[in-house]
Amino acid sequence: MAAREIVPGVYSVGAIDWDRRIFDELIPLPDGTSYNSYLVRGSEKTALIDTVDPMKTVDLVANLERAGAKQIDYVIANHAEQDHSGSIPAMLDRFPEAKVVTNQKCRDFLVDLLHIPEDRTIVIGDGDTLPLGDRTLEFIIAPWVHWPETMLSYLREDRILFSCDLFGSHYATSSLYVPNEGVIYESAKRYYAEIMMPFRSSIKGHLAKLATREIDVIAPSHGPAYERPAFIMDAYRDWTGDAVKNMVVLPYVSMHGSTRAMVDHFVDALMQRGIPVQPFNLTKTDTGDLAKALVDAATVVIGSPTVIFGPHPQAVYAAYLANLLRPKTRYATVIGSYGWGGKTVDTVKDMLGRLKVEFLEPVYVRGHPKEADFAALDRLADEIRKKHEEAGIVVS
Ligand code: FEO
Repeated sequence: MAAREIVPGVYSVGAIDWDRRIFDELIPLPDGTSYNSYLVRGSEKTALIDTVDPMKTVDLVANLERAGAKQIDYVIANHAEQDHSGSIPAMLDRFPEAKVVTNQKCRDFLVDLLHIPEDRTIVIGDGDTLPLGDRTLEFIIAPWVHWPETMLSYLREDRILFSCDLFGSHYATSSLYVPNEGVIYESAKRYYAEIMMPFRSSIKGHLAKLATREIDVIAPSHGPAYERPAFIMDAYRDWTGDAVKNMVVLPYVSMHGSTRAMVDHFVDALMQRGIPVQPFNLTKTDTGDLAKALVDAATVVIGSPTVIFGPHPQAVYAAYLANLLRPKTRYATVIGSYGWGGKTVDTVKDMLGRLKVEFLEPVYVRGHPKEADFAALDRLADEIRKKHEEAGIVVS
């Protein structure tokens, strides 16, 4: 990766990770990712905004050399997670005069996680500024975009927002800026679903505050930068807003075909009623695709057989994930088949406790579904259509 100029004196100096396929041992990365770091040279002082994953320190060092960075006075830590902070110790070794500039919470994390000496840190607060000579950095404390300590940095004179995880995408590209808005929209939505969606309410507040600022470029810490900030800010307003779409997300698993027969019938029933549906076979599904589908779907239906006395572990994973990510889903229920009993429906319902959903009547049947069971699925599809219409969700 080359050091790339955003404006004279401001460079992207991070690393592209073309081959990484999983993040946090949790999030699939079909398109790789990048760890963006930015060098800001003022007439008197030089700052480095965030660093890179420690596996990529060598790339950061090479890019700093290419950008001619002989001295760094400040390392701005917008976020303590190691994909951005992990190379700070190497930077402090390489630039003995440098201090880490961050907020109190982030400083505490850095001391605990990376053993950064407190006397190498400067603590700032919301709205504080850091003069670099002819350039000024302003800090915007923005908790929960991704951790509680996260903040954004704003370069006033150039109107560049360094947004760290916020507005990012796990997308490896040689382009400094978004190469294709359609492609990056999907990647950024997936990223939002996996990382930002649990903090939807906080992000709404941050978006409202950012709306009052003049921003020419958004430079996040993953994926390409935005020359047209309205593109990603409008997308975030949509995703974090309360509106849901006429869509049923149907994660399911079937052991002997009974639940699968119900899923197939239910998919048809929904389609016949003008309700788009996205089934996800949980034995094959990429969890990022499932998370993305959850961003704005009005209804989630989990399909699971009963294993011994409860839901299939794959269904447990999907329910746990949905509960963790807290999409704005309005309605939920369960369909599936059991052999001799169990508590699958109650267990799944309990697992979705953090979602503000109305739980619809489940269709949970013994053995392979019969005519009456398919009729119950038709009634459930009718009920979902009615609920969507009553809630003002546009149904074609
Ligand atoms: Fe990209 Fe929360 O770290």
